[in-house]
Amino acid sequence: MSSVKRIAVFTSGGDAPGMNAAIRAVVRTAVHHDLHIYGIMRGYDGMVKGEIKRLEVGDVANIIQRGGTILKTARSEAFMTAEGRKQAYETLIANDIDGVVAIGGNGTYTGAMVFMQEYNIPFVGLPGTIDNDIYGTDYTIGFDTAINTAVEAVDKIRDTADSHSRLFFVEVMGRHSGYIALHTGIASGAGAIFLPETNTSLDDLSDILRKSAKRQKLFNLVIVAEGNQNGDATEIAAKIKEKNPEYDVRVSIIGHLQRGGSPTAMDRVLASRMGHSAVQTLMRGEGGVALGVINDKITFTPFEAAISKTKSLNKELVKMAEILAT
Ligand code: F6P
Repeated sequence: MSSVKRIAVFTSGGDAPGMNAAIRAVVRTAVHHDLHIYGIMRGYDGMVKGEIKRLEVGDVANIIQRGGTILKTARSEAFMTAEGRKQAYETLIANDIDGVVAIGGNGTYTGAMVFMQEYNIPFVGLPGTIDNDIYGTDYTIGFDTAINTAVEAVDKIRDTADSHSRLFFVEVMGRHSGYIALHTGIASGAGAIFLPETNTSLDDLSDILRKSAKRQKLFNLVIVAEGNQNGDATEIAAKIKEKNPEYDVRVSIIGHLQRGGSPTAMDRVLASRMGHSAVQTLMRGEGGVALGVINDKITFTPFEAAISKTKSLNKELVKMAEILAT
C-alpha cells in the first residue's frame, strides 16, 4: 500500500537537458500506480502563487527528446521567506498533495530541506543541473548533454584554430565546479584546462606554451571554466597575449548553448531511472532525500548531506588530462 495518493513535481534553478525525461518518468510511474500527479509551474515561485495543474500520461507524450522543461523554471525570492513558504504549503494542502518530487540543484534541495523542517510533506530531490556538482551522485541530469554540446563546439573551433594557427581560449560553464571544463578538455584534446579547483597559473600556461613552441608542437586550445581563479576567458587571453605577443589569440564563450538542446541517450536514461525511483521512494513513505546513481545503483542522500558536502573532482582525471595534453 502506498502512503501517498497525490504527488506533485516541479523543476527549479537553471534548466538542464533531461528534465523533461524526468518529469515524464515521474508522471508515468505515478499514473501506473494509480496516484494523482500534479505539475507545479516555474518552481518554488509557482508553488507560492498556486500555479499547479493535474498531469495525465498524454501531457508528457513527445517530450523525452526535448531540452528545457515543460514545467518552466525560476529562482524564487518569495520561497526564501517564511510567508512565501506558508503560501506554498497552502497550495499543496489545497490540492491534497502528500509528496513532492523536486528536480534541480543545490538551491532546490535547500528549499526542500527548509520546507520539510517547517511542514510535514515529504520531498524527494532529483539532481537536475548541467554542472555535475551535486554530492551523492556520479552524474547529474543534463551533464552528459552539456559536455557533448561543448565538445561539438570545441571541435569546430579547433578546425579554424588549426587553419589559422591561432590560440583559442574557450570558456565553458561551471560557476563553482570544473566538471564541464575537465570533461570537455579531455574529450577535445585541449592543451590546457583552467579549473576552479586547481591553481594552474598564467605563468604555468606561458611555460607550457614556450615548451610546446620549442618542440614545434601545435598548441591551439585552452578550456577555461567560468569559475576559475584567474578570471574569465577574455581576461586570461588578454594577459597571455601580453606575455606572449607572438600568439594570435582568440576567445570563444560557449555560454547558454550548453544548457539547451535534445538530451543525450545517457541523460534520458538517467532521468528516467531517477524519476521512476523518486515516485517509488515517496510510495514507501520516505522523503527528505536526494536521489543519485553511484556505480550504476540508485542511492539516497539526506538533503543536508547533499547540500553541505562537496563533490570533488576526480584528481586522477585531472592528472591524466595534464599528461595527455603534453
Ligand atoms: O548552474 C548551472 C549554470 O549553468 C552554471 O554553470 C552557470 O554559471 C549558471 O547556471 C548560469 O545561470 P543563469 O544563466 O541562470 O544565471
